[in-house]
Amino acid sequence: MNTVPVEIIRLKKDLRARVKTWHMKGLTVGMVPTMGALHHGHLSLVREIQKYVDKVVVSIFVNPKQFGPNEDFDKYPRQEAEDVKKLAEVDVDLLYAPHQEEMYPGGFLTNVSVTKITEGLCAAKRPGHFDGVTTVVTKLLLQCLPDVALFGEKDFQQYTVLKQLTRDLDIPTEVMCGKLIRDPDGLATSSRNIYLSPDERRIALEIPKTLKRVVREVEESRLPLQQSLDNAIQHLLDSGFREVQYLEIRQSDDLAPVREKITVPSRVLVAAVVGTTRLIDNMPIKAPVA
Ligand code: PAJ
Repeated sequence: MNTVPVEIIRLKKDLRARVKTWHMKGLTVGMVPTMGALHHGHLSLVREIQKYVDKVVVSIFVNPKQFGPNEDFDKYPRQEAEDVKKLAEVDVDLLYAPHQEEMYPGGFLTNVSVTKITEGLCAAKRPGHFDGVTTVVTKLLLQCLPDVALFGEKDFQQYTVLKQLTRDLDIPTEVMCGKLIRDPDGLATSSRNIYLSPDERRIALEIPKTLKRVVREVEESRLPLQQSLDNAIQHLLDSGFREVQYLEIRQSDDLAPVREKITVPSRVLVAAVVGTTRLIDNMPIKAPVA
């Protein structure tokens, strides 16, 4: 394949200047923030955003502020050279890959925090995680000033939080949600899937199967909602998961808990640990037609 090399920018002032020249020419700009170790999920976000904008910036920055003290920040896969090749294949216009000092220079004191929708789900076992995400994404969006930013449905709570963030802080970027991409066997594609042994991967596949079962049971009102969730949690534990951190149904628009009946479009969301790897996934649940 004949691909043009992707330009890499490391400094926010250079990013600003480049985006400004595009805007002055009347071109629209989209941004896909990532932490690298790029896979089909990330690349599908690039293809999706290319439908809406003229120029696409992908950022790669492994953000220390969103990892807890016992999480995988040190071992998180870093493979910029491979990522650059993948970005060239999908015709990305620019890679923004700042170093730590550019993002968090000495004396950095600010924390950006969204309330309420950052409680529960992924936040319960990862205190401070969303503050880390909202702080870095605020910085990335202000450094780039894109017209559109795309975040994946795979991290549905994160997408909801970031939509709220840009709304509340008047950041002039439209936040959109990109489709969740799965590996051919059904497991949600993730940079962390490389940690799974073949045995763990077989166990991990119970996540999408179980979510599908919950969606079916709830949409067809076959079981009381809580019973379907309790059965699903037990099934995951019986299949070999070490821990099910949450398995819940929330309303899609504001993540409000759904206790008894589905009346609006909702989602079943899960986080579970197999071996030492934490996996998340979610699926939509249709509201009954009135
Ligand atoms: P990262 O995990 O690298 O993910 C970058 C983007 O890719 C996120 O919007 C995520 O939801 C999306 N994504 C990951 N796997 C996907 C899949 N299987 N299908 C569709 N989209 C998928 O999420 C982060 O990085 C960080 O928290 C970040 C937003 C970059 C802030 O540091």
